Amino acid sequence: MARRKLIAGNWKMNGLRTDSAALVSGLISRRAAESDFDAEMLVCPPFTLLDRVGQSLAGSPIALGAQDCHIEQTGAFTGDVSAAMIKDMGASYCIVGHSERRSGHHEANALIRAKADAALSVGLAAIVCVGESEPERRAGKACEVVCAQLSNSIPGGASPDTLVVAYEPIWAIGSGRIPTADEVVEIHSTLRRCLHGLLGGHASGVRILYGGSVKPSNAREFMLLPDVDGCLVGGASLSVDDFWAIALASQGLPA
Ligand code: PGA
Repeated sequence: MARRKLIAGNWKMNGLRTDSAALVSGLISRRAAESDFDAEMLVCPPFTLLDRVGQSLAGSPIALGAQDCHIEQTGAFTGDVSAAMIKDMGASYCIVGHSERRSGHHEANALIRAKADAALSVGLAAIVCVGESEPERRAGKACEVVCAQLSNSIPGGASPDTLVVAYEPIWAIGSGRIPTADEVVEIHSTLRRCLHGLLGGHASGVRILYGGSVKPSNAREFMLLPDVDGCLVGGASLSVDDFWAIALASQGLPA
């Protein structure tokens, strides 16, 4: 089944109103000028910018997403933001289970699945992140770890329209270190097999992104690998030039 590439930018805890305006308008104009471009593009700003960025993106082909959500839609949860609120900002995606939340906020698979369920219940697609630590990779457990994370954190009733999986080896995030092509292929094919066991016929349409130190200089080699259906970009998504160059690489187009 043909899967449309997805190039997603995770801004993390970065961005004030002024810099986000320049970043978003730069991306909109580059995208509008490239008629041959066929990948889906997504930006995931912090909650504080969802409304503003959503308004800027309205009418453009670039989608809006959030970086996390609560498991409930309303209630006495001080400091939290619900999937319904994110949807209300015009978003269509929500990242859940990023390793910075799994480790920094002690989020386990069951909570991540509940967040993904909450996202789906209001019509958002969930981007479920999985990835092994460096000791787990050294111990030869990377495939086993990501499969267990996937099996226990994807939402019930997921389909290609409502689920994206992002493989992000923890040791590659923000480090400038990247896995070899063989390592990426091994994990992505393992995740695809695991998805088949979980979702049956739906599995072949679910996109599996690679994330972790994706840059313009390495994006093309990731994007050519089998079962790599796009990328989740952190640091490089904060630069119009870099994020756009990565998007072009996903299409085999020159920067
Ligand atoms: P990075 O982050 O591209 O800065 O390594 C990726 C991510 O955490 O999604």
